Amino acid sequence: MLIMESLIYYQTEAQVKLNEIINKASSIVILCDANTKRHCLPHLIAMNPKLKGTYVITVPEGEKSKEWRFAMRIWEKLLKNNADRHTLLINLGGGVVCDLGAFAASVFKRGIAYVNIPTSLMAQVDAAIGGKTAININGIKNQIGTFQLPKAVCVFTEFLSTLTEQHVYAGFAEMLKHALIADKNYWDELKNLQHSGQIISASDLIKKSADIKSTIVSKDFYENNERMKLNFGHTIGHVLESMCMQHNNLILHGEAVAWGMLAEAYISREKKMLSQQALDEIETIIRFYFKPLSFIQNIDDAMRLLYADKKRVGDELHITLIRKIGTAVINQHCSEKEVKSAMQYINEC
Ligand SMILES: NC(=O)c1ccc[n+]([C@@H]2O[C@H](COP(=O)([O-])OP(=O)(O)OC[C@H]3O[C@@H](n4cnc5c(N)ncnc54)[C@H](O)[C@@H]3O)[C@@H](O)[C@H]2O)c1
Ligand SMILES: [Zn+2]
Repeated sequence: MLIMESLIYYQTEAQVKLNEIINKASSIVILCDANTKRHCLPHLIAMNPKLKGTYVITVPEGEKSKEWRFAMRIWEKLLKNNADRHTLLINLGGGVVCDLGAFAASVFKRGIAYVNIPTSLMAQVDAAIGGKTAININGIKNQIGTFQLPKAVCVFTEFLSTLTEQHVYAGFAEMLKHALIADKNYWDELKNLQHSGQIISASDLIKKSADIKSTIVSKDFYENNERMKLNFGHTIGHVLESMCMQHNNLILHGEAVAWGMLAEAYISREKKMLSQQALDEIETIIRFYFKPLSFIQNIDDAMRLLYADKKRVGDELHITLIRKIGTAVINQHCSEKEVKSAMQYINEC
């Protein structure tokens, strides 16, 4: 069993761990996006003066950087900088930088070490943790990737202060997911939060989410069973995200997951696994934080994307649902009709 908890370090401990890893590397390269270069890199260098003068690769901000050509750009720049098997790649950014950088590191010279320094809430509670690396292809999310753990995840919550409110709520969606799949008391705590300022200063809750994720991952690194719980909201969420990517319509991963969770909670209710009261409670929270959709114009297109998703076994759709708030159940067989009516439901919300 992999012990994931030991890979996540906070604040001072994170600084010490980072320093230790830096000292062992033959050379260091930092990957940023345009925003984290501006908002986070100066602070990181101030905390770690040894990083001054380190080679920095910058990709544009946003999901469009999770593409093959940006992975190529990283490999070319690593080669140009004479990177060897003991070079360290530091991913300083949100889920996009962490997914892309981790993927690039995991295959460069058959795998070099990388550290994630998550700067968005999404990355601090979810994306930077668990060793799933990914890029998108042909507008379909996360189709190319590897399983490769970082040397460490170093969390500095002060980075969150420059995040936009919309991105705070997107990260909050994954926190809601952790509560819905694993912990009813945690859900009740999250329900009490009112706005983004409260969310980013709730470092105990951020840590709680990271713990839920890492505990699940430590039981099933390669996603054969337990880890599938974390896919709650993502089967339909990925369809929403892919539809938007293909139509150049901006939706954040967390926003898509939020509506995906409502759709999958609706299916759970249809299957009489979840009470109407629990569905209403989930719907109230999702509506409070996330703007309505109504963009699934062609449900058949959505179904095609659904079948391209990796959470499919043959022609059957196997979806993670919830039995009640705090308990996820994996591999629930869902018919096309059930999924279509769930999409209709969130489209009309
Ligand atoms: N690998 C996994 O297990 C996993 C889990 C969840 C999500 N993800 C992936 O993560 C991605 C979404 O992550 P995200 O929401 O962090 O997106 P992101 O990396 O695009 O970051 C969101 C935005 O915030 C900006 N930003 C990041 N940190 C900032 C800071 N401190 N100050 C100011 N701006 C900052 C970024 O430049 C970007 O514009 C998706 O691609 C998703 O598929 C992966
Ligand atoms: Zn997610």
